[in-house]
Amino acid sequence: MKLRIDKMLSNSGLGSRKQIKQAARKGYVEINGRVEKDSSKIIDTEKDMVKYKGQVIKYLQFIYLMMNKPAGVISATEDYYDKTVIDLLKDEDKFFKPFPVGRLDKDTEGLLLITNDGQLSHNLLSPRKGVDKTYYVELAEEVVEEDVGLFEEGIILKEDNYKTLPAKLEILESGYPSICLVTIREGKFHQVKRMFKALSNEVIYLKRIAMGPLILDENLKAGQYRQLTEEEVKILGGQL
Ligand code: URA
Repeated sequence: MKLRIDKMLSNSGLGSRKQIKQAARKGYVEINGRVEKDSSKIIDTEKDMVKYKGQVIKYLQFIYLMMNKPAGVISATEDYYDKTVIDLLKDEDKFFKPFPVGRLDKDTEGLLLITNDGQLSHNLLSPRKGVDKTYYVELAEEVVEEDVGLFEEGIILKEDNYKTLPAKLEILESGYPSICLVTIREGKFHQVKRMFKALSNEVIYLKRIAMGPLILDENLKAGQYRQLTEEEVKILGGQL
């Protein structure tokens, strides 16, 4: 990407354009090893090495964050009443104007990708791509072996008679509560809860643990987040 030095450095959270201009005049900006006093010069973020006050600055056009969403916050950029996942971000991350990729219910926990990459978000959510989402589920009633076949066939939801695509149900513990893993390829409103409701069961705890090739980092406590590694970004982009 080609852009002015002052814009690039200011977008990177290093100060206003005016401050960058003054700093450049003092010799704090280096381009490819040479001091550049004119901050209006255009650089190529892919090719030119930019240093500010001795530090190499890598221009992040896109930001990719993995959050372990806690219960009680909503998957939106802003809300009048409730705290949103964006409210949990540091200012330096909010700066990139990221948004959550899809939604988890207010009471659902787990893997939420937050990015400003509209194309990636679109691909991940596109019904045509059918990206797998895996959930850890605890249920009020017993899950039985027969339910596995019913999930495989597709479940007819109660409210609108929509028949879901085949889904995978893996029973981890049968009993009270029953615990299982569910993998779905769609993202209908309250889908997992409604699938179990159609079988007269009730979800009492729901946590997303995977989305496509992205696996929730177990080191992230509820409410914590981290940047995706370059490898994760590559795998995610490559799969879509
Ligand atoms: N299915 C649900 O019912 N809720 C979620 O938050 C995600 C999937």
